[in-house]
Amino acid sequence: MTEDVPRWWQSGLIYQIYPRSFQDSDGNGIGDLNGIRRRLDYLETLGVDAIWMSPMFVSPMKDFGYDVADYCAIDPRFGTMEDFDALLAEARARGLRIILDLVPNHTSDQHAWFKEARSSRTSPKRDWYLWSDPAPNGGRPNNWLSEFGGPAWTFDAATDQYYYHAFLPEQPDLNWRNPEVRAAIYDVMRFWLDKGVGGFRVDVLWHLLKDDARRDNPENPGWHEGMSPTHRLLPIYTTDLPDMQSIVREMRSVVDEYDERVLIGELYLPIERLVRYYGEELDGAHLPFNFALIEAPWHARELDRLIRDYEAAVPHGGWPNWVLGNHDKPRISGRVGPAQARVAAMLLLTLRGTPTLYYGDEIGMPQAQLSGTETRDPVERNVPGFGLGRDGCRTPMQWDDTPNAGFTTGLPWLPLATDDPAVTVAAEDADPDSMLSLHRRLITHRRQHPALSVGSFHPLAAEGDVLLFQREHGSERFLVALNLGPAATEVALEASARATVAVATTTGREGEAITGTFTLGSDEGLLLKLD
Ligand code: GLC
Repeated sequence: MTEDVPRWWQSGLIYQIYPRSFQDSDGNGIGDLNGIRRRLDYLETLGVDAIWMSPMFVSPMKDFGYDVADYCAIDPRFGTMEDFDALLAEARARGLRIILDLVPNHTSDQHAWFKEARSSRTSPKRDWYLWSDPAPNGGRPNNWLSEFGGPAWTFDAATDQYYYHAFLPEQPDLNWRNPEVRAAIYDVMRFWLDKGVGGFRVDVLWHLLKDDARRDNPENPGWHEGMSPTHRLLPIYTTDLPDMQSIVREMRSVVDEYDERVLIGELYLPIERLVRYYGEELDGAHLPFNFALIEAPWHARELDRLIRDYEAAVPHGGWPNWVLGNHDKPRISGRVGPAQARVAAMLLLTLRGTPTLYYGDEIGMPQAQLSGTETRDPVERNVPGFGLGRDGCRTPMQWDDTPNAGFTTGLPWLPLATDDPAVTVAAEDADPDSMLSLHRRLITHRRQHPALSVGSFHPLAAEGDVLLFQREHGSERFLVALNLGPAATEVALEASARATVAVATTTGREGEAITGTFTLGSDEGLLLKLD
């Protein structure tokens, strides 16, 4: 903690909404802002502190909103600016902050900036994007690849140059070395901060700068047949460049012009490079997203190691954070199975640091298996068959047993992950053993006991499938005991210690008093309050 009193983004819980898929209010099959507003009661009682919404700005939707054509206007599919203002006001009245998704690395090719840049080589906006002459042989300027398949350079015949796009050709990259570009994005940030948003999650933050000399990326020695062609090169000249930190500092200073706002960065980087984004003077991102749990093999020792490594790497005064799922990665229940997803929820909500919960994970929504004709994600369309497709984690939120699980009265833009009426908010609300009820109990405990949110973290052991750690604050102590496997195991408390089961991922154990040795059942997680 940077100060004695933790900030809301330190003690709190962030909930990610993919607006297309949360709640439709007008029957067009696409979720919208009024739909989210209707569900604020749900979010408030769930106990989240902030909502991060994936982009809802004007967009041709080639990448479902991550191709922004106007940063300061709401896409009509999601509603109007009045709808946004109403959502923000109602959320704030309930003490919920709204964090926006800022997409500064690239715009849509339909953004006025790009249209102007493209119109001629002498356009005043030409240098706002990354243009390059063809190579001497007439081909592409270098070997850079798009994350979404194929080369990262697209030829613009009208002006006889290539432009760079880390993602789709319809998502040209902005030139972050141009001060006018930076100023323009900072003004976008101020536009929303003035309205009162709680801060930003910055899309692909580690991509913003590219090598000026446009050197070829080297071959990835770890690449082999069967791996996605998008990973054939090591992106050392296109991502995480050394001068990134000065950009992050600038962004942070914009956020710091306002009170109590947060800067979160999307960063898929190894831990030691990730933590540099806190900034040398803690003047970078408040929360460089830590995706270790998304990428980790689900084994006690692996998790123990990565938690220790991460805890050790977070700079003094920096605040940790944890993420189990998002709109780009397979859902946790799909990765580890429904029983372990409950254990994972206990892990996420008892680790030290701000948790980000992905919509639907709290009811155990499965990873959807879609047929080829149902594919909507450009990644799956362009690079099929490598498991990179993202539709399976973006299916509609399942509310109740009405048609389309209450998501829409129309035709949902993606099919539901399951038509099982048991996997809905309504059904789980009424069931004390449900995933939702488990989340509620964990969140309630986390909110009631600072030991679980801002308390210190003490790793204890990882033996076999069992992971043990302790959280402490003042005189309060909790032991978290997680069984990542199917075999029941005996666990010993420290000599003469006594504890009570505060929350269990399984049925019938809460309130149980424990001394000496206790049994941790199959796929069981216990949160024990030590006396
Ligand atoms: C980020 C987003 C992802 C998007 C990409 C390009 O990784 O999370 O959904 O496709 O950036 O903007």
